[in-house]
Amino acid sequence: MNNNQIQIFDTTLRDGEQVPGCKLNKSQKLNIAQALDNLGVDVIEAGFPISSPGDFEAVAAIAKVVNNATVCGLTRANKKDIEVAAKALEKAKKPRIHTGIGTSDSHIKHKFNASREEIIERAVEAVAYAKSFVDDVEFYAEDAGRTDNNFLAQVCTEVIKAGATVLNIPDTTGYCLPEEYGAKIKYLTQHVVDIDKAILSCHCHNDLGLATANAIAGVRNGARQIECTINGIGERAGNTALEEVVMIMKQHPYLNLNTNINTKMLNNISRLVSENMGMPVQPNKAIVGSNAFAHSSGIHQDGVIKNRETYEIIDPADVGVATSSIILTARSGRAALAYRAKNIGFCLTKLQLDVVYQEFLYLADQLKEVKDDDLSHLLENSKINHLV
Ligand code: KIV
Ligand code: ZN
Repeated sequence: MNNNQIQIFDTTLRDGEQVPGCKLNKSQKLNIAQALDNLGVDVIEAGFPISSPGDFEAVAAIAKVVNNATVCGLTRANKKDIEVAAKALEKAKKPRIHTGIGTSDSHIKHKFNASREEIIERAVEAVAYAKSFVDDVEFYAEDAGRTDNNFLAQVCTEVIKAGATVLNIPDTTGYCLPEEYGAKIKYLTQHVVDIDKAILSCHCHNDLGLATANAIAGVRNGARQIECTINGIGERAGNTALEEVVMIMKQHPYLNLNTNINTKMLNNISRLVSENMGMPVQPNKAIVGSNAFAHSSGIHQDGVIKNRETYEIIDPADVGVATSSIILTARSGRAALAYRAKNIGFCLTKLQLDVVYQEFLYLADQLKEVKDDDLSHLLENSKINHLV
């Protein structure tokens, strides 16, 4: 693998779908899996096969139809989970079992009432058992964000010996700061024995709004896979948003980190996931929110009309949005009014613009937004003629 290539592991259908109200039926999952495959993700985490018969069937159906991406199923560190996942993945062209266990002191004590040695034993057993079904085994150290680095390195060393090909270092509770998470990844690159036999993966939650920053810190410090979801959906405050990390790497070429994602498909897939899950995207969401390329203050609008780059760091076409938009509000200036009037066929002289602008402000103070129809009435009432 090219050393600057970042694998995109999409978990919309697993971590994303476990959000209350986001449950999908089998045919919706199949549609989304196919869209993810077309988007260019490297791994699709299709579900948690033992969790329900419906999830098992969906993972099996996705495994059958996906052509390019690796299809992955989640398990806990026990034989039954692993057997069921292996069965669900039987028809996959590239199957991966994702197994693991909590490694923080809090998980070890409260969830497992075990010792660190016992956790290593269970981790190794699970990886070795998964390896008897598939070559590609990913191990997750749940709550790695709050796990002591020295112990985490020991766990990673042992699961590599057992055959793990990917080491997932989840910040399960979204607690880490970017420099802390980046330092954890760097520590593992330096202290895990035979680390070159596996790649490190970032799986960051967004409880403090840092999931994207942490994932980027991870890859800047040596991780080579990011686990993420479309629109950043996921448990509690969500996961790293796929569209955000992909565009950060694209817009900062000096990072020299590449992905296989066709970014022009990002806007469509965001809508597909949002509509199927009944989970609206917040308007100010980076990259895919409805306001991501909308300009509404007079100063910004004047700049964008003169040259898009004054206030846009991404060409909207690069993420599948036709154009940026100039929104008319009481904060808009003359340049925006003239621009929008021209778009609907009215060419204003400077004098006309001065007069109409005062009427426009009066109207805009009454409305949240002045739409084309409102503007058209205003201009017609002011006896401004359409362009021929
Ligand atoms: O957040 C987490 O730790 C997870 C693991 C199950 C991978 O989702
Ligand atoms: Zn998670």
